[in-house]
Amino acid sequence: MRLLVTGGAGFIGSNFVHYVLSHTEHTVTVLDKLSYAGNLASLDGLDPARFRFVLGDIQDASLIATLTPDHDAIVHYAAESHNDNSLSDPRPFLESNIIGTYTLLEAARASGIRFHHISTDEVYGDLDLDDPARFTENTPYNPSSPYSSTKASSDLLVRAWTRSFGVRATISNCSNNYGPYQHVEKFIPRQITNVLRGERPRLYGTGENVRDWIHADDHSSAVLTILERGVVGETYLIGADGEKNNRSVIELILTQLGHPADAYDLVADRPGHDLRYAIDSAKLRTSLGWVPRFADFETGLADTIAWYRNNEAWWAPHKDAAEARYRTQGQ
Ligand code: NAD
Ligand code: DAU
Repeated sequence: MRLLVTGGAGFIGSNFVHYVLSHTEHTVTVLDKLSYAGNLASLDGLDPARFRFVLGDIQDASLIATLTPDHDAIVHYAAESHNDNSLSDPRPFLESNIIGTYTLLEAARASGIRFHHISTDEVYGDLDLDDPARFTENTPYNPSSPYSSTKASSDLLVRAWTRSFGVRATISNCSNNYGPYQHVEKFIPRQITNVLRGERPRLYGTGENVRDWIHADDHSSAVLTILERGVVGETYLIGADGEKNNRSVIELILTQLGHPADAYDLVADRPGHDLRYAIDSAKLRTSLGWVPRFADFETGLADTIAWYRNNEAWWAPHKDAAEARYRTQGQ
């Protein structure tokens, strides 16, 4: 397949591009506007015979119309992705996540190209800590933040364009990813790089919030599985049974880096902070035979810590700006 990957210079998109080029024969074009979160260095070293980069915005319909004829599928990762930023300035989230997705769907409709939409478990809202339930494909939408409500909106657009216009689309909703190339504004890289710089990790609220962690490579293998064997019109949840509360993740980072487990600070909580996410990925596992490879979070975290230790040149230029933003929020 010839894949057009939007947002391929971001965290999960770049991991997907590396995964596809090393595990398949597919070719990849990345379309990315290189926002503050995009980084061309995340795409260094790729085979130019199978990879090219196009600088542009997913809201640019005429640019996208020049790209669709040479591709078999759009894999749509591009988005504003950070909840905290969506609380301070929602507009870019509406533009990229809603209008951007609409623009790509219109291109898919006009060209007949296959479309895979990358979404999040946050569209389902949150669960209580002691709730035995996990999210499934049938859980009602109930997003909490400006970010998650724009992602929910984009999912609904994909469903409408599939039903009304016959766009050949699939959707996946994944839980929290970790791994290399994640921006230092996000939880795990922020804490790892704080400790590497001699600063204390920052835990929102009391740290009891639970996230369901999955390694970015497992997200990539799941998306590839859906792209190659998924049923058009279907939604698949992606998760690897990785529930952990934030406090325990910070304690693991500290101990893996040789510091006392309690050497962190409690800071102001995120307004509207979702309590717990948990994914039931039985449909993907049963109907398409997908299995995650990174069963052991502690080993995956150790690999991720090693990556940030060895790639300071990749993250250091962005660290001060991210921390300056957090300081204005008391975090
Ligand atoms: P990211 O912020 O690291 O990367 C987003 C990329 O999209 C950047 O390279 C940015 O330049 C690009 N982009 C943003 N707006 C654009 C536009 N208008 N036109 C072109 N390019 C644009 O995000 P991420 O964490 O890699 O997330 C990627 C996708 O995966 C998003 O759709 C997100 O909702 C979804 N997702 C993320 C997670 C997670 O844990 N990070 C989990 C589930 C789903
Ligand atoms: O669930 C999937 C979602 O996961 C994706 O859709 C989002 O794009 C992605 O950013 C992520 O959202 P979260 O809000 O869960 O991720 P974040 O890394 O911002 O925060 C993870 C948890 O850690 C959350 O409970 C807030 C908390 N936190 C975060 C930061 C940055 C802290 O306690 N301290 C921090 O410094």
